[in-house]
Amino acid sequence: VRRTALIAAVLLGASALAACQSRGVASPTPSQCIPKGSCDVTTPTQTFPIVPAFHLTGIPAHGKPLFIANCGSCHTLADAGTSGAVGPNLDQLKPDYQAVTAQVTNGGSVMPAFNHTLSTQKIADVAAYVVTATGGSLP
Ligand code: HEC
Repeated sequence: VRRTALIAAVLLGASALAACQSRGVASPTPSQCIPKGSCDVTTPTQTFPIVPAFHLTGIPAHGKPLFIANCGSCHTLADAGTSGAVGPNLDQLKPDYQAVTAQVTNGGSVMPAFNHTLSTQKIADVAAYVVTATGGSLP
């Protein structure tokens, strides 16, 4: 019985993959898979560009007050004591340094770009803070 279940699980996985591939998408991104997320959800949804702040060494202690002032209204981050819910919960997302520097520099569809309001060093500082406060390591 166990073995049958295993085979069934494998077949189910294979058919889910086939469902994505049959849409003619060579390498499906999650947004192209219906229902949403039915394809490989471990693949990052986005690759972030390398921005100038990525090349600087951010100082987490300098980034914390910047985060509270500029980001906390939209983002939850336990270490900062913020509970914004407009953007993703950063404790759960655990973004890497490349992602945060790019997101803060360029903004998103809703999130504003900070390249005119924060210096490149401050973007590096706030990014270093987010990464270390969520258990990540700096490049
Ligand atoms: C006005 C609300 C708002 C502010 C202010 C804001 N964000 Fe965001 N943030 C968002 C939203 C919404 C998203 C989801 C992407 C989008 O649609 O913009 C997001 C996405 C992100 C992401 C996720 C990138 C990924 O991996 O997909 C990070 C990291 C991030 N924000 C960090 C910050 C930092 C750091 C600040 C402060 C410098 C900040 N945000 C300020 C709303 C905000």
